Amino acid sequence: MKLLVTGGAGFIGSAVVRLAIARGYEVVNLDALTYAACLDNVASVADDPKYAFVQADIRDRAALDAAFAEHKPDAVMHLAAESHVDRSIDGPGTFIETNVMGTFHLLEAARAYWQEQGRPQGFRFHHISTDEVFGSLGPTGQFTETTPYDPRSPYSASKASSDHLVRAWGETYGLPVVLTNCSNNYGPYHFPEKLVPVVILNALAGKDIPIYGAGANVRDWLYVEDHADALLLVLEKGVLGESYNIGGENERSNLDLVRTICTLLDAKRPRAAASYADLITFVKDRPGHDARYAIDPTRIREELGWRPSVTVEEGLEKTVQWYLDNEPWWRALQDRAGVGQRLGTA
Ligand SMILES: NC(=O)c1ccc[n+]([C@@H]2O[C@H](COP(=O)([O-])OP(=O)(O)OC[C@H]3O[C@@H](n4cnc5c(N)ncnc54)[C@H](O)[C@@H]3O)[C@@H](O)[C@H]2O)c1
Repeated sequence: MKLLVTGGAGFIGSAVVRLAIARGYEVVNLDALTYAACLDNVASVADDPKYAFVQADIRDRAALDAAFAEHKPDAVMHLAAESHVDRSIDGPGTFIETNVMGTFHLLEAARAYWQEQGRPQGFRFHHISTDEVFGSLGPTGQFTETTPYDPRSPYSASKASSDHLVRAWGETYGLPVVLTNCSNNYGPYHFPEKLVPVVILNALAGKDIPIYGAGANVRDWLYVEDHADALLLVLEKGVLGESYNIGGENERSNLDLVRTICTLLDAKRPRAAASYADLITFVKDRPGHDARYAIDPTRIREELGWRPSVTVEEGLEKTVQWYLDNEPWWRALQDRAGVGQRLGTA
């Protein structure tokens, strides 16, 4: 089976590419190589004969048509997106262009190709989205697949729009679509502007570890390699037209998560002075910061038999070790625009 993976040079996309190649799929990685991309993320598979790379922007319909015509994929896994909420607050325009218009162009290119191929029912357009489309929860409750959409940031609004487009292309044109909405990912190759790598790298540098607000915001943390595994399962076994929520069954407040990382670092690379937790600094909250996200994973568990393989403590242990072992990877990315600065305070 040949997969066209968009955004395969990013954090989650590269985990999908690596796992798919390891499982024997052919993979065409289509990525525009924005600031968030890093081809080193897929260096381990780059010479595999089953792997191909296309540098293209999903907003460029002609480039998409050419990629479909040349590579003739059996399925699309669509992960390319602008993904950082703080950047969406400072500059929402690119989020609308890539996440909404880019998804529209990709859907149209996929539809044209699928129709030309005789509308094979085995074809899949798998759209990868976020639990942030459902809005913010209070202290109780969980998002199910039927929770009404209530996005509250430019990022989540753009992802919600793309989800609606994908469902509409399924209903209106019969394009064989499937969707997934997952919770916060963490793990190896996470771009150093996101919370988990920021904590690890600031701690190692002896810098303040910033926590937005009181650190009470709760997320359901999902190890990226578990997510990639769930995505390939949904691609193969997911019911057409359905969406699946994917969670880590690991709800933690930001403050608890950060303290866990500090404890892991204290054990692995002890600081002379004191615990890394002493570097925790509370900073002004993100505007419109959603209080809590939690996933009800019943559908994927009962219909497809999927559960995460690691707890957040196990996943964080692997993640912290990976950052300790891969300093050249993160050092190179720290020079990119905006990395290391506070964004999204508008
Ligand atoms: N990171 C998370 O915790 C999380 C959680 C739920 C859902 N998601 C979704 O998963 C997907 C991947 O997220 P990620 O964290 O890996 O993102 P990322 O920012 O690490 O990677 C995004 C990739 O998309 C590429 N890209 C961006 N704009 C493009 C364009 N116009 N054309 C082609 N390629 C483009 C980038 O170059 C980059 O390689 C996104 O759709 C995101 O919304 C992420």
